[in-house]
Amino acid sequence: MTKERYLKVKNVLIMASGNGSNFEAIVKYFIDKGLKDRVCFELLTDKKDANVIKRAQKLGVPYFYVEFENLYDFLKNRKYDLYVLAGYMRILPEKILKLAAASDDTGEGYQNKFINIHPSLLPKFKGKDAIQRVHEAGVKKTGVTVHFVTKNVDSGKIITQKEIEIGKKTLTELEEAIHKIEHKIYPEVVENLLFKKNILLLGGGGREHVLARKLVKSPFLNQLYLAKPNDGFKDLGVTIDFPTTENIGADYQMLAKKAHALNIDLLIVGPENPLFDGIVDIFTKEGIKCIGADKKWARLEGSKSFAKIFMEKNGIKTADYKVLEDIASVLKSKAKIKEALEYFKTKGKIPPVIKADGAALGKGVHLPNTFEEAESEIESFLGGKFGDASKKIVLEERLFGREISIISLWDGNTLLSFPPALDYKRLLDNDKGANTGGMGAIAPSKISAKEKKQITEYLNTLKTALIKEKADFTGIIYSGLILTKDGVYVLEYNMRFGDPETQVLLELLDISRGVDLLDIFIKMSQKRLNEIDLKFKRKKAFCLVLASSGYPENPKKGSIIANLNSAKKYGCKIYFAGVKCTANTGLHTALNKLTLSAQEAQYNFTADSKTDLITNGGRVLNIVKSGVNSKKILDDIYKTAQDIDFDGKIYRKDIGYDKQNT
Ligand code: GRF
Repeated sequence: MTKERYLKVKNVLIMASGNGSNFEAIVKYFIDKGLKDRVCFELLTDKKDANVIKRAQKLGVPYFYVEFENLYDFLKNRKYDLYVLAGYMRILPEKILKLAAASDDTGEGYQNKFINIHPSLLPKFKGKDAIQRVHEAGVKKTGVTVHFVTKNVDSGKIITQKEIEIGKKTLTELEEAIHKIEHKIYPEVVENLLFKKNILLLGGGGREHVLARKLVKSPFLNQLYLAKPNDGFKDLGVTIDFPTTENIGADYQMLAKKAHALNIDLLIVGPENPLFDGIVDIFTKEGIKCIGADKKWARLEGSKSFAKIFMEKNGIKTADYKVLEDIASVLKSKAKIKEALEYFKTKGKIPPVIKADGAALGKGVHLPNTFEEAESEIESFLGGKFGDASKKIVLEERLFGREISIISLWDGNTLLSFPPALDYKRLLDNDKGANTGGMGAIAPSKISAKEKKQITEYLNTLKTALIKEKADFTGIIYSGLILTKDGVYVLEYNMRFGDPETQVLLELLDISRGVDLLDIFIKMSQKRLNEIDLKFKRKKAFCLVLASSGYPENPKKGSIIANLNSAKKYGCKIYFAGVKCTANTGLHTALNKLTLSAQEAQYNFTADSKTDLITNGGRVLNIVKSGVNSKKILDDIYKTAQDIDFDGKIYRKDIGYDKQNT
């Protein structure tokens, strides 16, 4: 690896009072990984006869015996990149913690450079003899927590947490199991904190805003780079200039070269088009890992007929279908259209759904009411209603039932899914009006035990199919499902995070239990998704999209967005999509300042005195909130929606209000 930042030697002080098995595990991990020249370890102990000293001697690690009273003076003259507490039986006062305040200190006092490991699922069982107390308490599960250190015992932001079932383990067996986990996770956290990652995120919608916001909160992030962000969140990273031309392949080559020069470790692709155009293949060639499907597998979304064949071959239930292509001859004789429609007439007497084979921004689907309407729509699709995307079409038997989306992560071996979400595709209330990219979302979507079982079975079938077909990519698979009386059917696949589903799903990720989005992506890229345990808050999350009149065809642009501060008043988060900054008119600037809590502030849009935020696309922004009281959350979201002001503002009034979901 020729990454520059690896060449700088990192200084690490391990602090221990006792046995020192974690000390040894950490040092050995770096030796085994061939990183011992990159990290310089030293040991500090407050116990003259601690066993850890013997381990240090054996490993050739310099050590210091420093009485606790002298610790401050000792540390104040030395600088380390990381201070690792491994069984150091002292509480560190603020004075000492401040010696290692990190530059990205968020004001909460935890982002200093002291970390600790504790043998329980904090905040449960803080303090001494935790394993024994856990065992005596007879709880079902316990685990290990790595966290930043504060002046309070075993507190501070949780970096990672690993759970285990206690089962019938004796105390000794439990201790062994806990230590085994400690020795596995602690060295890796140390490595990730020393060698933080550079990430490039591509895309400029609400989905990318929420992804960016979660990424910048990760302790494992060095620098976030953004390609094509919108002005509402570009402050979260460094924008890489990336002009797009007619030759998109060459543009991606150029972006990959820039990414390489910037030591970018991972590319995260937000939207679908770059996947269709093979950005992942290009970056992979450049030696950069990616979160996103390669060109071949992006076709699960990019070609409806490819997806149909995949499902058919692998026993995945999907609607019966017919493909129409070779437009010139089909349009000329029309016999093929009539023949195809006849098939659906005989089969179920209901006109088929018409889908453009290629991707059409989620809009290339038509649900005709009559066979006559179907015929003329087919002609219009084939005639180029969606350009090249509809020159081939799929006619599909219409299914009836409730729709839900399941977003899964895939690393070539493991399929890990988020809870079901629901997005509201239609423009108007009660699912009327044009198909859009999505006007709102909720998660988790309610499902019965029977539906849950069916969905699990479907996901198992999908996983088997992906393995059988050697789908060797690392990315997202979004299953658009319909729950019919005959079971779960797949309506479509998307190969990216859904927008706006991602806004609600990431809201539910339980950061307080050490679930870190960047850690998930890193593990995915190393094909270690099986080690990730997605933990979710027991809450409900809602997202409402504020759009601009004329959306989806021809949205109004250029209106000043005011009163964003309302979001703060009602405890809502804002994610920006179709917005941009422009020279200030002098009227609205003060109203555009958006700050949430002190900790969140740096991650939110703040218009300065010279700029206004104006609308610049169909879906302008998302209002998101989660909690346990659905009615209250929706009240707050809708009050915010009323207050935020821009010319041409439109939104659905029924998001989240359907009985089965709230
Ligand atoms: C570990 O159980 C750790 O969680 C706790 O102290 C113990 C240290 O063990 N903070 P060792 O000295 O590393 O063997």
